[in-house]
Amino acid sequence: MSERVIPLLDQRHPSLPLPPIAEGHALNGLTLDGLRRPLSDLRISVTDRCNFRCSYCMPKEVFDKDYVYLPHKQLLNFEEISRIASVFASQGVRKIRLTGGEPLLRKNIEILIAQLAALRTPEGLPLDLTLTTNGSLLARKAQSLKDAGLQRVTVSLDGLDDAVFRTMNDVDFPVADVLAGIEAAQAAGLGPIKVNMVVKRGTNDHEILPMARHFRGSGIVLRFIEYMDVGATNGWCMDEVLPSAEVIRLLQTELPLVPLDPSAPGETAARWGYANAQGEYDPALGEIGVISSVTQAFCGDCNRARLSTEGRLYLCLFASQGYDLRQLLRDPTQTDTALAAMVDAIWRGRTDQYSVLRSLRGPDTASGPGHRVEMSYIGG
Ligand code: GTP
Ligand code: 5AD
Ligand code: SF4
Ligand code: SF4
Repeated sequence: MSERVIPLLDQRHPSLPLPPIAEGHALNGLTLDGLRRPLSDLRISVTDRCNFRCSYCMPKEVFDKDYVYLPHKQLLNFEEISRIASVFASQGVRKIRLTGGEPLLRKNIEILIAQLAALRTPEGLPLDLTLTTNGSLLARKAQSLKDAGLQRVTVSLDGLDDAVFRTMNDVDFPVADVLAGIEAAQAAGLGPIKVNMVVKRGTNDHEILPMARHFRGSGIVLRFIEYMDVGATNGWCMDEVLPSAEVIRLLQTELPLVPLDPSAPGETAARWGYANAQGEYDPALGEIGVISSVTQAFCGDCNRARLSTEGRLYLCLFASQGYDLRQLLRDPTQTDTALAAMVDAIWRGRTDQYSVLRSLRGPDTASGPGHRVEMSYIGG
């Protein structure tokens, strides 16, 4: 059985050669890539497993009972994750997002959260520490996550109608349990909470308005995500993408919106605020976001690095290969300064901008060995 997927991960996606580090490689704590984009956001996948089978991410036909996940000893342990996170913080990272798979499936995740919450930037400030979850375990875990030092959560939720939601997660999971999880997160103070809805035309687009009505005025920021051609297994086609412009048009028919300025450089979502009767943004009604990686690429200021469950560094969501940092973490001769120099050298060589290239040339439809890694492995 183990012959099926371990070769898939190890050979289909061999790691990239690490760049040479020159003697006396200078570090200034602010690493810019080849397109002058800073490194400020690190997404860490803590498990490649999930209890959902969303067809756009872990389709059942591929992630079935025979699928072999990474064995435990291949995963970075919490000390390794915290150490590499502190190295990233020394090089400019200010936000850490834990992802999966489903990160709440990782045993004792609270211990890791407490370690990450103790990290400080070179200026002595804590990092922005957040987590993306499908919400299934949130009702049970919200308080312990907060107590461990997690600041906020983003919950994936693709519809309010129970039947639609069960179809989207494809494991017959009830929507009420996720809504209870969101409430528990609110009660525990894990805010500002964001809810991410991946929109697939013809599957859950009729849930856009009900979702907006439900979260308007709740203090929760709902974001609509264009279905992306990420990974190599979801059978993506453009017909199933509902452009964000259409989402906005649909919302405006009932719930007037006004555009808002970005709140941070490199942000994935374009923000829109609900308007009052005078047509002005009303903060009490709140805001929504649209994430348009298919129709309006936002690679220009992409500041996100991704660390896979077994410690490979990926420079783009659409990458097919990453850099093996685990071998350095497990090499006793490597100091933190040497690790920082490696992170700096890798990021300096970065020129990835897949979504921009997709807009210019169309999607990369190559498949088979060496094709893109799955989102469940490097995280959203
Ligand atoms: P905040 O920290 O709350 O601002 O969240 P965020 O918008 O940075 O991150 P989140 O993980 O919530 O991103 C939302 C979704 O946007 C993800 O689930 C992905 O679908 C998509 N996304 C995030 N980062 C990227 C990226 O770098 N490239 C592309 N193409 N899509 C991305
Ligand atoms: N398209 C868009 N977003 C995706 N996600 C996973 N797969 C896709 C895809 N194909 C995002 C969703 C989910 C998060 C974990 O990853 O936002 O909430
Ligand atoms: Fe699991 Fe999230 Fe992927 Fe759905 S999108 S299968 S909840 S990791
Ligand atoms: Fe960043 Fe790659 Fe996404 Fe562009 S496609 S925004 S470079 S992760």
